[in-house]
Amino acid sequence: MQNTVANSLSLQSVYYETLNNKDVFKITLQNSSVSVGITNIGCSIISIETPDRSHRYKNIVAGFSVLEEYATNKEYFGCIVGRYANRIASGIFSLDGKKHHLSINERNNHLHGGFEGFNKKIWDIAGFIEEPEQVGVVFTYHSKDGEEGYPGNLQVTVSYCLNTKNQLCIGYKAQTDKATPVNLTNHTYFNLTGFDVPEIKDHLLQVHASGYTEKNRQNLPTGSILPVENTALDLRTARKIGVNIGTFPFDMGYDHNFVLDNFSENKVNLAACLYEPLYGRVVNIYTSQPGLQVYTANFWDGSILGSQGLYYKKHGAVALETQAFPDSPNHPAFPGTILNPHEQYLSTTVYEFSEK
Ligand code: GLA
Repeated sequence: MQNTVANSLSLQSVYYETLNNKDVFKITLQNSSVSVGITNIGCSIISIETPDRSHRYKNIVAGFSVLEEYATNKEYFGCIVGRYANRIASGIFSLDGKKHHLSINERNNHLHGGFEGFNKKIWDIAGFIEEPEQVGVVFTYHSKDGEEGYPGNLQVTVSYCLNTKNQLCIGYKAQTDKATPVNLTNHTYFNLTGFDVPEIKDHLLQVHASGYTEKNRQNLPTGSILPVENTALDLRTARKIGVNIGTFPFDMGYDHNFVLDNFSENKVNLAACLYEPLYGRVVNIYTSQPGLQVYTANFWDGSILGSQGLYYKKHGAVALETQAFPDSPNHPAFPGTILNPHEQYLSTTVYEFSEK
């Protein structure tokens, strides 16, 4: 299917193959300057092509050139992470007096929804959006009661829409039939040189956060929210990522949850700005979520051949994961993450592309 809508917007959906009895598609959303490739394996963003300040196009996200690789994808390139993005301590939480045990897939903890998180599922395509100002695709996934230990059947909808303002809007919705924690994010990694420069140390990152969730050696929150002031996590004014990337020997780079200043429930606010001065590409990130996990690909080791035809190196890109705080079900003081029956989980994140 290929459709051109108004304002140079176009939408294409191409059947790619059948995997585990499910049809896999490659979908392309395009406007006059941005092109976004998406697949239903893991509901993943597979490419984002944008111009630099000299109108040269590059794919600025980490990905694979062979779609099947998204079914394993251990670094979580571009995918939707759930049912609970980030970690839950010991994989345990209690709800209404009942203890729930989730699968333990990272050390002693539950990470990114378990062994077969939403990133490994082949999602259904529920429909396409073709409007004068935006084109998009809507995916659904039904997560069964008990999957990876989570209570309740969860019906999840994720939409990706590209509009004429060079914004890619990710809309999340979910409903459940039993109370369950829900924390959905997208795990796209950006390198705004399109990996021409193999590390993101010269990218400038600004995060609108005065605090961060303190964590222990297992990457779990202690429960304290500490000020970023006078620390390497003070990114309130834009800083080169490389300046302080070496100050976290344990993490080998940034892997922290920032507490966003502008958070206000159900509103989409500016969270971060990533700028690459050599080529001039900019990504602004807006979200309705309270947190942003900044992860600088600290464990990439040159073994993955990316879609740009290069092997991805340590610190090759940065993931800016809009999310609820890690392990929130075990920290009642953190913004709530429990979705109850008859409620609707709603969340929005926007990536806005420009050049300067
Ligand atoms: C998140 C986590 C990291 C790591 C990556 C995926 O950013 O915080 O510790 O698990 O995802 O590699």
